[in-house]
Amino acid sequence: MSPQFIIDAAFIAAAFLFIYGLKRMSSPVTARSGIVVAGWGMLVAVLASFLYTFGVAEAAKPHLTTNAIVAAVALAIGVSWAWWSGKKVAMTAMPQMVALYNGMGGGSAAAIAAMVLLQPAVEGGHSGDLLHYGVTVFGGLIGAISLSGSLIAWAKLDERIKGTWRYTGLQAVNGAVMLITLGIGGWIVFAAGGHAPPMIVVGFFVAALVFGVFMTMPIGGADMPVVISLYNAFTGLAVGMEGYVLQNPALMIAGMVVGSAGTLLTLLMAKAMNRSVSNVIFSNFGATGGEAEGEIKGSMKPIDAGDAGIQMRYASKVIIAPGYGLAVAQAQHKLFEFVKLLQAADVDVKFAIHPVAGRMPGHMNVLLAEAGVPYDIIYDMEDINAEFKEADVAIVVGANDTVNPAARTNKSSPIYGMPILNVDMAKQVFVVKRGQGKGYSGVENELFFKDNTNMVYGDAQKVMVSMIQAVKSLDGGGH
Ligand code: TAP
Repeated sequence: MSPQFIIDAAFIAAAFLFIYGLKRMSSPVTARSGIVVAGWGMLVAVLASFLYTFGVAEAAKPHLTTNAIVAAVALAIGVSWAWWSGKKVAMTAMPQMVALYNGMGGGSAAAIAAMVLLQPAVEGGHSGDLLHYGVTVFGGLIGAISLSGSLIAWAKLDERIKGTWRYTGLQAVNGAVMLITLGIGGWIVFAAGGHAPPMIVVGFFVAALVFGVFMTMPIGGADMPVVISLYNAFTGLAVGMEGYVLQNPALMIAGMVVGSAGTLLTLLMAKAMNRSVSNVIFSNFGATGGEAEGEIKGSMKPIDAGDAGIQMRYASKVIIAPGYGLAVAQAQHKLFEFVKLLQAADVDVKFAIHPVAGRMPGHMNVLLAEAGVPYDIIYDMEDINAEFKEADVAIVVGANDTVNPAARTNKSSPIYGMPILNVDMAKQVFVVKRGQGKGYSGVENELFFKDNTNMVYGDAQKVMVSMIQAVKSLDGGGH
């Protein structure tokens, strides 16, 4: 068996593991093993790439500078940092971590492009090959945009950068930076045949990084998850392109898989918020919140947590709509304990999951799975929305925008058109939240003022504890 055969077989195996892993991630039941399978795929791809770069390809590609020690040190730093940060990250900080990792991927693709463009022209190399250098430059461009854009997205989500850039002529300035970047990139490919002076190459990457910053700074924090997903698609594309440049099949396949998954996810999130991707990038969600909403009639009526708990104990059907506040309070375990008490009292309990509940796709599913909630009582929005009108109680735990009926009825609301959970159609609605705080989009919620809604004020975990105690004392007292 030649080394080349082993490498080819390993790349095919890695590709299979990536795709099979991704397939398994599509259901919560198999998702955990899907991550492990894809992780094995990545290990195989890394080993094969080492063998490829430092073994057989060394002779075939004399113009690529390679250094096994530097590569091994970089790999060790990357693996330990990822291991450590992955272990300690809080569930609520996951989007920030995704942004950082994603930025690193884009940066790596840009670094490959920089390495190729800074290589001196070699005999028998790719000199003058338009396709080769066109792909290198384009991959480098989107990789660099993804790097600086993702870092800004991370800083915004982490509230290290507050506020957004808004000034007259912003689009014109961004357009000009984009044109300058494309101009330098085009010059490198077409005029210099891929071998421009180092200062020009550096200028190209600086311009691309600046464009990433300029493109992301005007976008509001509420849209960051969509932006991160978009940059994820960029990174995938950039990695795929640089994989082509290096003729590394594992990079090409992994890049394509990430690129297409990121694109689909971006579209799905935008659809769940009833917005187009260009609307996310070029205008601002939440920026107009509060101005165009109009008067909301009615008042917020508080209720004691214990009383609400007891009312649910005597209901026959209860639907729970969880949201970001559940994650903040880490109340999933107590919530499930309460659900088990209700089930013991023959109450039919179901969970209703909005596609953008929380701060990232699948956020609520992961949280509920962590608490051990069985998958067969967790329903996607489109599968459960028709059932709310038959429910005695709908209880909203730390959700806001995803249950705001203004999205259905109020044309002047910034969230108008966004599909929502029909909690307001239940006979009785309880909303668990700490106070009068608005949702992610900054919009007031009409649901809280409705006749059939009562507010259960307090941290979600504390509220759940009170509900559990109330039901237990009731059932312990003669039922
Ligand atoms: P939000 O609209 O963010 O509302 C969460 C609510 O939880 C807040 O009103 C807050 O009210 C309450 N809360 C916070 N901490 C709490 C605690 N410790 N205990 C009890 N309540 C607490 O959440 P949502 O309904 O899940 O909506 C998600 C939002 O994120 C949407 O606007 C969506 O468009 C946006 N978004 C999501 C995604 C994905 S993929 N998930 C992507 C892009 C955008 P108080 O401060 O009064 O407690």
